[in-house]
Amino acid sequence: MQDEEFHRITDDIITHPLFTQMQDLTHHGGENSLYDHSVDTAKCAYRLARRFHMREERIEAVTRAALLHDFFGYDWRSEAHKQFLRHYSGLRRLTHMHAFVHGAMAARRANRLFGLDERQRSAITSHMFPLAPIPRNSEAWVLTLADKMVASREMSEAVGWHMRRWYRRMVPAVSAPTRRM
Ligand SMILES: [Fe+2]
Ligand SMILES: [Fe+2]
Repeated sequence: MQDEEFHRITDDIITHPLFTQMQDLTHHGGENSLYDHSVDTAKCAYRLARRFHMREERIEAVTRAALLHDFFGYDWRSEAHKQFLRHYSGLRRLTHMHAFVHGAMAARRANRLFGLDERQRSAITSHMFPLAPIPRNSEAWVLTLADKMVASREMSEAVGWHMRRWYRRMVPAVSAPTRRM
């Protein structure tokens, strides 16, 4: 990866205080944060866009969109978010759940702070496809693919992390000497 080029494209976002706040939110289990997930997705999208020989300005656009794809700005496990969902019932509650709406929310918030073009907004909005609308441009397909590749790696790492924790808790119990009656 061309590290310097990646940093030139992303530094203003990565160092923004509202972006670094995402270090406090865990994502996909284990010790992974939403910040780590976003940076890794941007790196993956950057590599994919280069491999697909996209034009330079579109590589830059998709890398920034990937960095901001989960920039929705709330904790979906919080009481505030549960209260937001209580405004809806039945099917409308389902369609307002985090998985369905956070792409559109991230696109709006990222646009307000960093100014995105129409193709970037569309890519962020559809990154949860098939739970979101079908991707409508090449940036959107690269982003949804990068997000899924990074998410599946993170989730398998999280399974390993939980298993190691479980093992560490269980082993002392298993290896403890049994008391004679
Ligand atoms: Fe997402
Ligand atoms: Fe994501």
